[in-house]
Amino acid sequence: MSARVGLHDLSVATTSLVLELDDLAAATGIDPAKYRLGLGQQQMSVPAPDEDPVTLAAAAAEPVLTRHGMDGIRTLYLATESGVDQSKSAGVFVHRLLGLPSTCRVVELKQACYGATAGLRAAADSIALRPDERALVIATDVARYQLDSPAEATQGAGAAAMLVAADPAIAELEAPCGISTADVDDFWRPNDRSTPLVDGKRSIDAYLDGVAAAWDDFRLHGGAEIGQIDRFCHHQPFTRMAAKALAGLAEHTSTQLAEDLIVASTTYNRRIGNTYTASLFFALAGLLDHDDELAGKRIGMVSYGSGSVSEVFSLRVADGYRSAGRGAATLAGLNARTPVDVERYRALHDAGIFGSDANITVEQTSPGPFHFCGIEEGARRYRRD
Ligand code: HMG
Repeated sequence: MSARVGLHDLSVATTSLVLELDDLAAATGIDPAKYRLGLGQQQMSVPAPDEDPVTLAAAAAEPVLTRHGMDGIRTLYLATESGVDQSKSAGVFVHRLLGLPSTCRVVELKQACYGATAGLRAAADSIALRPDERALVIATDVARYQLDSPAEATQGAGAAAMLVAADPAIAELEAPCGISTADVDDFWRPNDRSTPLVDGKRSIDAYLDGVAAAWDDFRLHGGAEIGQIDRFCHHQPFTRMAAKALAGLAEHTSTQLAEDLIVASTTYNRRIGNTYTASLFFALAGLLDHDDELAGKRIGMVSYGSGSVSEVFSLRVADGYRSAGRGAATLAGLNARTPVDVERYRALHDAGIFGSDANITVEQTSPGPFHFCGIEEGARRYRRD
């Protein structure tokens, strides 16, 4: 990469409702310590009926445009595995809600939780070629599992929006990256299903194997040595998975890697749950907002998407990253969520699932500016207040 290219802004958003996992444990007769300690999860963000991956994406991206304007944005990559249409990109709805120019290309990317990493790399490579342009990469997902399944407590929802530009204010994306793709049935969602099929134990092994292979490829392609990485951010389906992945990497490289390297990266994820392709970038936001000593430091980024594709890459943090942060707004968003009890959460679980034949009006109940309004003549309708 010739020009310095990377993250110029990072903004995250989650839903307006929240469930305490202690309440879920009490309702299902599970020891709450299993969720708190075994999975490392405390809360789960729950979407209101008028919130979906499109509204979350727009909510995450709007503050970026308010701060930096739209000049030079010619690409929007929207990564999701909970897309709302098999043909049209969810990004096209977001493009209209945000008022982006018609001269901005829009495409949806999918490979489970890995999609946004591919978007970030593609955006950075194109900005390196045309440094006067900028690109928006948005990761957005609603993670829904079958009720009463072992994965239920890992659900969540949220979006992360990244502005990719030359001379980035937050972090430079370093050129080396390591990749590993393997066809594995660990987690997948066929077209006729609203929740995934999951082999939980296999998925953990597939994640660990994928990361080890991607690490080897990272080193082969000039990536930093393990001792030159100052912090790690992992994809976090549940925050203990980051600890498992760090321990796996320590064993694979025959080094000691203390859990201090990942603690700050779990701050938001333990309160939100799995956000699939956004999860890695919630981890990054958590780290940037809760660690004052990152200037000039290298962050090892560990991406995994079931099915599976893994990528290891690195970021070099810019000196002024603290002034580009959004920690106060993110915390305010988390604290503003309305608590729901288990009965209400379960009633909402399937509320957003309906066929395209029905004409449906969805009542506006969430306080944010972007709303899913329902289905009219087979098409999804969205509105900005
Ligand atoms: P499970 O079978 O309910 O849980 O499913 P478990 O019995 O394995 O317990 C989980 C942990 O809690 C264990 O710790 C227990 O010991 C501990 P570990 O041995 O793993 O360190 N535990 C307790 N701790 C304290 N007090 C207690 C207690 N009881 C148990 N009383 C599983 C867990 C993760 C498999 C399940 O939630 C699941 O299937 N989740 C979905 C799949 C998933 O998240 N996989 C992760 C890797 S794949 C991935 O990340 C991709 C993904 O994001 C999708 C995508 O890419 O799109 C999922």
